[in-house]
Amino acid sequence: MSKQIVWRFSVATRRMTFLFFVIAPLCCQAAAAQTAPPESREDQAAENVFKNIQAFKGVRAGDLQGAMSFIASSLNVDCDYCHEQDFSKDEKKEKLRAREMIRMVRQINEESFQRNVA
Ligand code: HEC
Repeated sequence: MSKQIVWRFSVATRRMTFLFFVIAPLCCQAAAAQTAPPESREDQAAENVFKNIQAFKGVRAGDLQGAMSFIASSLNVDCDYCHEQDFSKDEKKEKLRAREMIRMVRQINEESFQRNVA
């Protein structure tokens, strides 16, 4: 093998090595970032997980159940006081009134206490 051919071969080898060990891992990282698991259901906004969220917009989906249980136990009622079989439906006047009150409390918290809480 002439010296020139050996030199060419080694240049090609170095280029391949560069491609495999430097470029490829970067591409894999980028691909992995793109296929990273999406935000868990609980961490998404309630309106993206449930069907009919109006007053609790922006609240973490995982916190909705706790808020509902808190409302029910505070009023000493069960879920069916406001809900029918389908929780997303707005059939009962109690649910509509509760929504108005949730809105009212959030509004007072934002305007009077500069707080963004449910
Ligand atoms: C005092 C009335 C009231 C009670 C009691 C109540 N809820 Fe709710 N619930 C609401 C209101 C109002 C909404 C809509 C909130 C909004 O508009 O953001 C809602 C929404 C929901 C949703 C979202 C439905 C969807 O897909 O849009 C679920 C799930 C839910 N409630 C479960 C429960 C459970 C479980 C209980 C019992 C532990 C309960 N609720 C008790 C008033 C109530």
